[in-house]
Amino acid sequence: MEKEILFATNNAHKLEEVRAILGDGYRLVTLREKGVTEEIPEEQPTIEGNALQKARYVHARTGADCFADDTGLEVAALGGAPGVRSARYATDGHDFEANVRLLLHNLEGVADRRARFRTVIALILDGEEHTFEGIVNGTITEAPCGVGGFGYDPVFVPDGYGESFAQMSAEAKNAISHRGVAVRRFAEFMKGNRKD
Ligand code: IMP
Repeated sequence: MEKEILFATNNAHKLEEVRAILGDGYRLVTLREKGVTEEIPEEQPTIEGNALQKARYVHARTGADCFADDTGLEVAALGGAPGVRSARYATDGHDFEANVRLLLHNLEGVADRRARFRTVIALILDGEEHTFEGIVNGTITEAPCGVGGFGYDPVFVPDGYGESFAQMSAEAKNAISHRGVAVRRFAEFMKGNRKD
């Protein structure tokens, strides 16, 4: 029988990505299907802290097996910023262009352009907590390149590649991305736990 698992996100794109990787055996349900319509708190100072806070909140609220993800861009020369504040780096909202502008401004004249994207997935399964991490290392460009993707994609070139995430196809990006790695680790664990 399919086991139900709740993904604490309102992002339809993420839901489809995880559904495709997870495969049969699990029925992925959304916050809306469980009647959770309020904003999920994410007030922690770390990426793992936020992923865990979201998963714990949703678990306490619904009692369901559930998982949540959180991602940040960590830039070496900025001491790991914007990190956990990646979505709200320049403004309170998710203003991707303003975030990119501020990042490039803060890196003006800085030779060390090393950065990494890091995703943590926090899972609560049968009352136990587990976390899964995905990292992709790269560098920050001097100016935006490409129109695909979202967020900091136009200024992030993964190591070993000659183009930014915004210049890659979604498939090529997912194959190496922070989120892709974390989701596949999570999916492997879930497949190992399948009782069918
Ligand atoms: P979230 O935790 O997945 O919502 O990600 C937080 C923020 O990190 C987003 O608002 C984006 O600014 C940035 N971000 C996350 N994943 C990516 C990505 O794959 N490419 C570019 N930016 C990303």
